[in-house]
Amino acid sequence: MQDYHYYLSEVLITEDALQRRIAELGEQISRDYAGKGELVLVCILRGGVLFLTDLMRKVTIPHAIEFMAVSSYGVGGRESNGQVRITLDLNLDIFNKHVLLVEDIIDSGHTISAVIDFLATRRPASISVCVLLDKEERREVEVPIRYRGFTIPNKFVFGYGLDLDDYYRNLPFIGVVDLQKYQGSEQGSEGAIS
Ligand code: IMP
Ligand code: MG
Repeated sequence: MQDYHYYLSEVLITEDALQRRIAELGEQISRDYAGKGELVLVCILRGGVLFLTDLMRKVTIPHAIEFMAVSSYGVGGRESNGQVRITLDLNLDIFNKHVLLVEDIIDSGHTISAVIDFLATRRPASISVCVLLDKEERREVEVPIRYRGFTIPNKFVFGYGLDLDDYYRNLPFIGVVDLQKYQGSEQGSEGAIS
């Protein structure tokens, strides 16, 4: 694997900007859910991990965390469609609890919509979405987003949880992938969307 600099065409969101925005989201969430009952932050693996761990430190009211994983058929793991499979389910019962889904990025919207439908059958008190990056212009299905970090242009990005062929999730910033250099596996095999 190359050093990340090879694939980086530009830094889209700096570490500082991410952390400042996440602090704001944490404050907002803490205010909105205060005194409302039990709150569970549900992280969608693996992309949402860095966002969750930073966000939860800024949520000052009591809450639990949980993890889910999904996979989706797409082109080399870069695009999802309607067929979303749950590959890791929650351990916790969410009946009557407030669920806040913590997701790295919403693109077409298929992944998060499938997760919402799946969890809604368990009759939580509410389900809301907190997404770090919103690729709004790519949306194919409507998604109710309650908390949004940033709206971004239609560019393939990596870092801060988002991967390029499973690597570089550890970068503390969001970078734009140089598609000239990144040839990826575009054979249309099943790609794990995470
Ligand atoms: P959606 O179902 O099309 O909304 O896709 C959401 C999932 O696609 C995200 O959870 C990511 O795993 C993946 N994804 C979408 N755009 C990007 C990107 O620019 N970089 C890395 N992963 C992405
Ligand atoms: Mg994801």
